[in-house]
Amino acid sequence: MAKDDNGAEHETAAASSSVVRADTSAGTGVVVRNALENPGFPPHRPRITDLNPKEERKAERAVYTLFYLSIVGSVFAIAAYMAFPISAEDPGSVRLNNLFIGLGLSLALLALGIGAVHWGKALMSDHEGVDERHPVRGTDEVRARAVEVFQQANDESGFGRRTLIRNSLIGALIAFPLPAVVLFRGLGPQDLDPVALLNETMWKKGTRLALDPSGTPIKAADLTLGSSFHVIPEGLAEMGHGRLEEKAKAAVLLMRLNPDLLIETPERAGWSYQGIVAYSKICTHVGCPVALYEQQTHHLLCPCHQSQFDVTNHCEVIFGPAKRALPQLPITVDAEGYLIAQSDFTEPVGPSFWERK
Ligand code: FES
Repeated sequence: MAKDDNGAEHETAAASSSVVRADTSAGTGVVVRNALENPGFPPHRPRITDLNPKEERKAERAVYTLFYLSIVGSVFAIAAYMAFPISAEDPGSVRLNNLFIGLGLSLALLALGIGAVHWGKALMSDHEGVDERHPVRGTDEVRARAVEVFQQANDESGFGRRTLIRNSLIGALIAFPLPAVVLFRGLGPQDLDPVALLNETMWKKGTRLALDPSGTPIKAADLTLGSSFHVIPEGLAEMGHGRLEEKAKAAVLLMRLNPDLLIETPERAGWSYQGIVAYSKICTHVGCPVALYEQQTHHLLCPCHQSQFDVTNHCEVIFGPAKRALPQLPITVDAEGYLIAQSDFTEPVGPSFWERK
């Protein structure tokens, strides 16, 4: 029994139950009057590697073999980096480079992980043990000493007293990361407005739509119902310097649907041709290529974060983190039946974080 400030007696938590430990800190103890008795551990079962030295050696061999395999994977990744360099002239080189470096690193990590797990499970001691929790709160003496040390450090350093030094130090710490911000800004386009850059692509009135990557112009008659194509502006495939930058903005997905399914606003009437529509392939979330077309539902899916766009309804977002529809490229056909652009996109392509017109 304990007395409160008013002198009234009442049962304390500790006294009411034998399961509360004497060193349980205030506020963390839970009084359980009908607690089940701790059944303890089941009897320890030795593993086969504990009983059979042959099996133990086998497990040891497996573990070091996996670790050596991991070394092989790492060396392979380095060799692949040198053997398959990325060439600006050959986009296919990126694929080979990534493939082989990825294979090497995957092997290295996988073998390392499996080896470590196998070591832990088969060879390291597996005797069950109990680690008692201890109160998180320090004792009053420790807490008082911590305050004392802190005050002593403050007195000795003059941090609280010498306000000029303290404030200038805080200012220096705030200013310290700023050069990094400026340096990273330097990696971006200089003196160029990103909104203007993303606002203009290679598409202009009369540019033919061409197959990616061959650059072959596409005739409307070549598109069957339900088909879809990855498209670039004619002439881009032959470009030298800056081709990839232009492609990253101008890439388009071309699809042919039943015209009756298309919901077209009056402003965009005439932007499609007999059910053929063209939309920017650059996701408006963070710019991945929206490359998956589901023909039955007419949905485009961005594999990066699963944004989905409804092709029948101006590629409005129907799911996922993208906040804006894919920009539509107005198209028609020329006198020879080739698909051509009526103009550039009428809004910036790509992620929506840029300020838009
Ligand atoms: S980049 Fe397309 S959903 Fe994130």
